[in-house]
Amino acid sequence: DGDVFKFYSEGEWKNSSSGKSVSIINPTTRKTQYKVQACTQEEVNKAIENAKSAQKLWAKTPLWKRAELLHKAAAILKEHKAPIAECLVKEIAKPAKDAVTEVVRSGDLVSYCAEEGVRILGEGKFLVSDSFPGNERTKYCLTSKIPLGVVLAIPPFNYPVNLAVSKIAPALIAGNSLVLKPPTQGAVAALHMVHCFHLAGFPKSLISCVTGKGSEIGDFLTMHPGVNCISFTGGDTGIAISKKAGMIPLQMELGGKDACIVLEDADLDLVAANIVKGGFSYSGQRCTAVKVVLVMESIADAIVEKVKAKVAKLTVGPPEDDCDITPVVSESSANFIEGLVMDAKQKGATFCQEYKREGYLIWPLLLDNVRPDMRIAWEEPFGPVLPVIRISSVEEGIHHCNASNFGLQGCVFTRDINKAMLISDAMETGTVQINSAPARGPDHFPFQGLKDSGIGSQGITNSINMMTKIKSTVINLP
Ligand code: G3H
Repeated sequence: DGDVFKFYSEGEWKNSSSGKSVSIINPTTRKTQYKVQACTQEEVNKAIENAKSAQKLWAKTPLWKRAELLHKAAAILKEHKAPIAECLVKEIAKPAKDAVTEVVRSGDLVSYCAEEGVRILGEGKFLVSDSFPGNERTKYCLTSKIPLGVVLAIPPFNYPVNLAVSKIAPALIAGNSLVLKPPTQGAVAALHMVHCFHLAGFPKSLISCVTGKGSEIGDFLTMHPGVNCISFTGGDTGIAISKKAGMIPLQMELGGKDACIVLEDADLDLVAANIVKGGFSYSGQRCTAVKVVLVMESIADAIVEKVKAKVAKLTVGPPEDDCDITPVVSESSANFIEGLVMDAKQKGATFCQEYKREGYLIWPLLLDNVRPDMRIAWEEPFGPVLPVIRISSVEEGIHHCNASNFGLQGCVFTRDINKAMLISDAMETGTVQINSAPARGPDHFPFQGLKDSGIGSQGITNSINMMTKIKSTVINLP
């Protein structure tokens, strides 16, 4: 109806002085669904400056009180799951059930974070000096974990709520303040999530949420001298951010080309189920999606047949109907995916289904006999298109996996645990899953990418640690 959602700063909902807005296109209808404020650099500046002073007080707030507020926010978030999920359906075409799951998972993450925080931050170290050569027992060192200051959180479109709280909650429990720049697609879901934190009663300016175009406020945010830490999840932009950011801790997760290596002794039904779930859930728009299947030639026909049968059963359509395959997030994304498909076609890949697209909706597609000269062998489509490369040795599979610029996760299917361990050791990825598709969760597990897939490690415990610094006090005895 032309209304523009307000942004959140100084504990209030505000209109931007720019008088401009950014439109959010519903991927299903391809019409404007919502509008958000196009914040100015001045407004960003103000949010960061205010976050700086709010943080000073927050750091002095007892840890148990910080935890209590997070628990409250978690509960409110879960109460609001239906309207937030509805935004996710409209803004990013996430299937309705998955949208609810994302919000519930987010509430659980916030609570877990509060609990983990009181444990981790509730203890420090005590060291004595006489273990190091030349020292008497005259120095006692006490360490504790102190916050960094202002944390900037930039989550991606595919989990606008969950990958926002996975940055917000660790930052807050550790005594930091937080400025959130949500993705445009998903911004309204994120604003609604921030509203839950608002209702929980966090101090003014501790959390703010600025919306707008990355091209206008992106660099300004990431290069702002008032920002003390950046936690980013997304695509290539992360590489640019890491080059421009100052001397501050960075946490980045930038996509992947997760390989699924299938050995001859694997449970073929388990493999097929995981390939379909791993490759096609949320239409392949997950950084941890299975993005290339590397299967031993002798079982390749059997695997392809089983996967084909399951793909045929996937429902395709609007997210409101809870279809398995829903429209991808944008026209440019759909065009990019189509480009990869056409390249594979031209170079002779076997199409297991007919390629079909309507608007942003792309039918699930399995491409067999993909070869290394095809773009789809290396690039991530972030869509429901999955390449199969037939291999004649395990080494060939490992080699393909390691030749990628990415190194997020990978998986291997075999009944031989010894082989699985050796392959895991050989795969240059942050995580290897044995006998299951890649996934970030459970959310307290470490989550990290090697090479172009990221910097640092996430997961609740690692994020809390990353958003703190060690402070020592040394007592010198006479
Ligand atoms: O898109 C990247 C997410 O971190 C993947 O999370 O494995 O829970 O889908 P997920």
